[in-house]
Amino acid sequence: MTPVLPVTLLPIGVRGMKILNRQKFLRKVVVPILKVGDEKVSEVTPICKNYLLKLENFKPVQPLKQNSENSYKIIHLNPEKLSQWSDIDNSDREVLQKCGITEQDLDTKEIQITYDNFKYDSIFKAVLPENEETVSGFSQIGHIIHLNLREHLLDYKQLIGEVLIDKIKTCTTVVNKNNIIDNTYRNFSMEIIAGEENYIVTVKENGCNFRFDFSKVYWNPRLCKEHERILEYIKPGDVLFDVFCGVGPFSIPAAKRKCKVFANDLNPDSFTWLNFNAKQNKLNMTHFKSYNLDGKDFICNIFKDFLVGLCKGTEELQNGSKIHVTMNLPAMAVEFLKHFNGLLEDKLLMEKFNYEIIVYVYCFVVGDDPYKDAEQLVRESIGCDIDILNTFNVRNVSPKKEMMRVTFKLTKSIIFGVNQGSICEPPTKKLCVEKELKD
Ligand SMILES: C[S@@+](CC[C@H](N)C(=O)[O-])C[C@H]1O[C@@H](n2cnc3c(N)ncnc32)[C@H](O)[C@@H]1O
Ligand SMILES: *[C@@H]1O[C@H](CO)[C@@H](O)[C@H](O)[C@H]1NC(C)=O
Ligand SMILES: *[C@@H]1O[C@H](CO)[C@@H](O)[C@H](O)[C@H]1NC(C)=O
Ligand SMILES: *[C@@H]1O[C@H](CO)[C@@H](O)[C@H](O)[C@H]1NC(C)=O
Repeated sequence: MTPVLPVTLLPIGVRGMKILNRQKFLRKVVVPILKVGDEKVSEVTPICKNYLLKLENFKPVQPLKQNSENSYKIIHLNPEKLSQWSDIDNSDREVLQKCGITEQDLDTKEIQITYDNFKYDSIFKAVLPENEETVSGFSQIGHIIHLNLREHLLDYKQLIGEVLIDKIKTCTTVVNKNNIIDNTYRNFSMEIIAGEENYIVTVKENGCNFRFDFSKVYWNPRLCKEHERILEYIKPGDVLFDVFCGVGPFSIPAAKRKCKVFANDLNPDSFTWLNFNAKQNKLNMTHFKSYNLDGKDFICNIFKDFLVGLCKGTEELQNGSKIHVTMNLPAMAVEFLKHFNGLLEDKLLMEKFNYEIIVYVYCFVVGDDPYKDAEQLVRESIGCDIDILNTFNVRNVSPKKEMMRVTFKLTKSIIFGVNQGSICEPPTKKLCVEKELKD
């Protein structure tokens, strides 16, 4: 064959396109091909696997239409990798030759490629400004793709949205997160850039179905693994107090696993969807209670009453079962720890009190030693020494900011405010907690 010029398989002539014109992606490309008898195809194709022409919606091995009795297949090869016979590895050429395939069987063919043959990343590479950061790291929540576009890409947002809807089958809505807004409910304002204006999503996590309005409540698909890790510590018969529960990613699966759950969130929309999800996942409602309170009131009333009930025998806990407290509101949760310190004033209950309580508190730290900083923050916030079981880096939020989890034992002496024989000092100094939230 006459060597084909090395070509790129990317779309051409579309750089700077702002209104998606799918026709403009049509292009003809000359590609190398091998003509191979039907009987040899299964032997030859694996040898060619490094050179195959791989495009979306394109079969590299196709029948050759002809009238003669023998039938052939055409194996389409990638012109970016191969423009002549000698571009094939020596060893591969030898094997091909053993199958009776020689330089004479290598030919070229012009094919037509269209918008449908490109993946979204090839399209973005060809359209968006060169040498600048492209669309990266978006997340998908049900049918919604959620972007955080940089300034230089805002002019292209409509095209980016339409391409994603075309290319990602399960996506019918694309939103761009507006500025980072740190509000109480941890939801952020978003702008539809393509598709239908429908924010009600359904997602599956840890074996449960969750449905919620993504514009009104907090949900982060990146926390799936962390939810799973905590769920592994929670056993049937245990009790969970989920202080900042959102729409239930800790609470619903825990209740499903026969744990008694007290779930709380201040956001009325989270509360509504939490209850919807409890029903949808067919929880036994005798094991599931939900609240729409401030975390402080939840701790100082619901949690406290349960502990008092245990001591007085009106509540029960199976022998060997534990009480877990999850506090996932990283920007603020540590500020609620002080309410545990001396929560029960009635010292007469002390002798009855013999329960294992584990707290999982999340925080953000900025600094070189996130483990040490997180532990110090938690100690200072609760105002007395604590027995830390584990400190874990959950995820990197931004260049120097980590989301950490500190797991510690909430002991009898903390609950009754008697640490090492003396009343705990209430917390005085506070470490600087970065308030601004990235999600
Ligand atoms: C980061 S989200 C965590 C939600 C859920 N636990 C999860 O892991 O996805 C924090 C939640 O705390 C709720 N929240 C914020 N301030 C609160 C407060 N003072 N008391 C109770 N809930 C609060 C927010 O509405 C939000 O749903
Ligand atoms: C957050 O959700 C609340 C309802 O839960 C809604 O009223 C508010 O507009 C949302 N905030 C943003 C910034 O979209
Ligand atoms: C719900 O839990 C209670 C208490 O454990 C039990 O008696 C009841 O049978 C359960 N209901 C269902 C439908 O499983
Ligand atoms: C609880 O179980 C442990 C062993 O499983 C046993 O040693 C202990 O006496 C039990 N306590 C009560 C109060 O039943």
